[in-house]
Amino acid sequence: MHLFSGAAALLALSQRANAAFGLTSTSSRYIVDTDGGLVFEVNRSNGDITSLKYNGVEYQGTGKASAINSGLGTSSVTGETVNGYVKITVKSNSLPVTQYFVAKPKEAIIYMATYNSKEVDPGELRWLARLRTSELPTGVHGNVGDTRGCTAFEGKDTFKCSNGETRCKMYTSDRFIDDKVHCVSGSKAQVCMIMPGTAYETSASGPFMRDINSQTGDSDQELYWYMNSGHVRTEPWRFGLQGPYAMAFTSPNNKPSEDLDMSFFGSLSIQGYVAASGRGSVTGSATGVPSQFETVVHWFNKDAQYWTKASNGKYTSPLMKPGAYSMRLYKQEFLVANDTVTVAAGQTATKDIASKEQNKPVIWRIGEFDGQPFDLKNGDKIERMHPSDTRMGSWGGSFAAESLKAKDFPMALWSKQGGTASVTFTLTQDQVKGHVIRVGTTLSFKGGRPSVKINSWTGNDPGAPVLIDSRGITRGAYRGWGDVYTWDVPSSAFKVGSNTLTLGVYGSGDATWLSANYILDALELQD
Ligand SMILES: *[C@@H]1O[C@H](CO)[C@@H](O)[C@H](O)[C@H]1NC(C)=O
Ligand SMILES: *[C@@H]1O[C@H](CO)[C@@H](O)[C@H](O)[C@H]1NC(C)=O
Repeated sequence: MHLFSGAAALLALSQRANAAFGLTSTSSRYIVDTDGGLVFEVNRSNGDITSLKYNGVEYQGTGKASAINSGLGTSSVTGETVNGYVKITVKSNSLPVTQYFVAKPKEAIIYMATYNSKEVDPGELRWLARLRTSELPTGVHGNVGDTRGCTAFEGKDTFKCSNGETRCKMYTSDRFIDDKVHCVSGSKAQVCMIMPGTAYETSASGPFMRDINSQTGDSDQELYWYMNSGHVRTEPWRFGLQGPYAMAFTSPNNKPSEDLDMSFFGSLSIQGYVAASGRGSVTGSATGVPSQFETVVHWFNKDAQYWTKASNGKYTSPLMKPGAYSMRLYKQEFLVANDTVTVAAGQTATKDIASKEQNKPVIWRIGEFDGQPFDLKNGDKIERMHPSDTRMGSWGGSFAAESLKAKDFPMALWSKQGGTASVTFTLTQDQVKGHVIRVGTTLSFKGGRPSVKINSWTGNDPGAPVLIDSRGITRGAYRGWGDVYTWDVPSSAFKVGSNTLTLGVYGSGDATWLSANYILDALELQD
């Protein structure tokens, strides 16, 4: 009798749970109740997400659906319950893409992964949730991508507002190495993209790539995860399984953890998913980077990419797919060593790597060779606004090396805008001899590269760097090839007393902020 009623109670409990968590369908829709406060609907003809209700409030926008790119078009859409998870598979008829939506009981999370066998025209792959601005008005990095009331003035994506401030969805981006959770929010909820573990392994352009995270318009708050794009791309695209990643609903000010366990994807027959048991890793020392800079280790081949930050001179890689990899060491973002390593499943390879950077004594140096322009003037703003924004400090100018602080020297130069920058410095008789000028850049646009002139001596044109065919600084990007230029300046160029270095730009382009330009990392006159 006791046994019987215990079993009956258990049965009743499990029926209640089943009634709440699970998949139901109509002829046109799959409806998923996560039993964690989130109920979402998927269109059975194209895999669009057409409803996202969290705690009874509809967050899905009223215009277009949430989907990969602008939708996968007519697709084969299947819904099933596998090992206690709801799994919806959307295989596009026209695009080389299969999208997975997965739900786990009691969580307000849509787990996702995107398999692509080729790049999708026009060269970008992204998850785009079109949410309601009325419910979620705050974008990633606040209003930097909020175009409401503002007018496009460069391309179709960069806006000027009546107060002279600028907005662009690119200004919401963060470095992939740091971008593990980003959210849009409102008074009742926030919605976050989570890219845990090795979610970026099939993306492109390395740890310092940045891409669009949100854009706030009158009706839609767009929340993105860009897997790849042509936005200052420095590597070929990779194909295979992108992610897994997730979109989570939480209460406001309750940012979800970046440590989201995705290992259950191993039991769901997801195309291209490689479980931990099929992976290996690399460990060792990473030394020689001064402690005020991050020590970053990066691995890549044509199929996968990984990175980690070393601490106390030691590193351990994430779990990587087997293969032969190029390996790089960065001082912050400045390349200081290369190597190669081979990873085998179930094994840990050992590889020590040390900085090869040689610091020469200098007469003066402006900025740090760290692959970033943030220590220079306007470097604190450039990721989040246009160089013409009224909040920006002036560009160009004349400076005296002896009293100069890096934060007073402009972080970029344009051939037709923003002027030249000159540095005066004093030499003694002993210092009138040959010197090397070294100029580090982080990104170039339309072939822009430094021109140097010392007094009446002019350095050779180093020639245009490899073109990255993408707007850069005007959309908040600073990271490209990181070209470093040096000139051997003869002693005859210098004189006792005051000397002037004039820094300018070779290259042309439009007579606007889109003329040839480059972003400075640092410059120095070596002793
Ligand atoms: C699902 O997609 C089809 C094809 O685009 C469309 O005709 C239909 O209206 C959509 N259904 C819903 C519920 O959005
Ligand atoms: C790393 O390798 C690249 C490509 O071969 C080369 O251009 C660069 O000078 C190397 N850098 C260092 C610091 O070893």
